[in-house]
Amino acid sequence: MLLQRRREGTLRTSIPPGPETAWTPPFDLAVTDRLLTTTRAVRRRLDLSHPVEREVVLDCIRLSQQAPTGSNTQGWAWLLVDDPEKRRSLGELYRELAEANIPQARQSHTMDAQTARVYDSAEWLGRHLAEVPLLAIPCIREEFGGPSGNATAAAMYGSILPAAWSFQLALRSRGLGSAWTTLHLFREKEFAELLGIPAGILQVALLPVAYTKGTDFKAAKRRPPESITHWNHWQA
Ligand SMILES: Cc1cc2nc3c(=O)[nH]c(=O)nc-3n(C[C@H](O)[C@H](O)[C@H](O)COP(=O)(O)O)c2cc1C
Repeated sequence: MLLQRRREGTLRTSIPPGPETAWTPPFDLAVTDRLLTTTRAVRRRLDLSHPVEREVVLDCIRLSQQAPTGSNTQGWAWLLVDDPEKRRSLGELYRELAEANIPQARQSHTMDAQTARVYDSAEWLGRHLAEVPLLAIPCIREEFGGPSGNATAAAMYGSILPAAWSFQLALRSRGLGSAWTTLHLFREKEFAELLGIPAGILQVALLPVAYTKGTDFKAAKRRPPESITHWNHWQA
């Protein structure tokens, strides 16, 4: 029975197989774990000189469409911007937002070295967004009546964010990078007008997309999982 469950992949991979059971996980964990741990927010290492092929991005969107959606609504929509004029207009708006918001946000944060680097990098993106070869805006149709209350908000955002993260993982596996950003949503309407996004379609992020300078990203330092996990009952 144990052997059978191991073969079906229902056991945690950290349980070492006994000598009699040559169970192997269904995926190469060295590869999948590296993908999952090294898909970072990339800004300054985006290669602004290398165009991004539309087929590659469409491939990543195709993969993202395997993500879950509430009631299987599949209401994903992607606005992809590679037109230089459009990027210039969006970049100008984004620069204004970065200049108006990031220095303030920096001051209201306790600044360890890692967070200071994030802010430096976010400011850099504020100055260079227009030069990023492709800007991807994941959107969701307001199938759930808009984000009023936690249940509808969770259903709505939960029906696009998993797909967007799959998209970012797929980019990373192909040598491209991106960064989750939401700053532009402070002027969401202006972005929608520039891009012709109709009412009833919500933008949830703006992902700058480019090939990366090198692919040797590292896992970030995170707290131990036990410190954020509650078993069976919330522990204060
Ligand atoms: C909800 C959300 C909003 C974010 N907004 C921005 C943003 O507006 N601008 C930006 O440069 N990065 C933004 N980020 C990226 C975070 O700064 C980044 O994920 C964090 O610093 C961790 O970086 P790492 O993934 O490389 O460890 C956002 C991330 C999330 C999840």
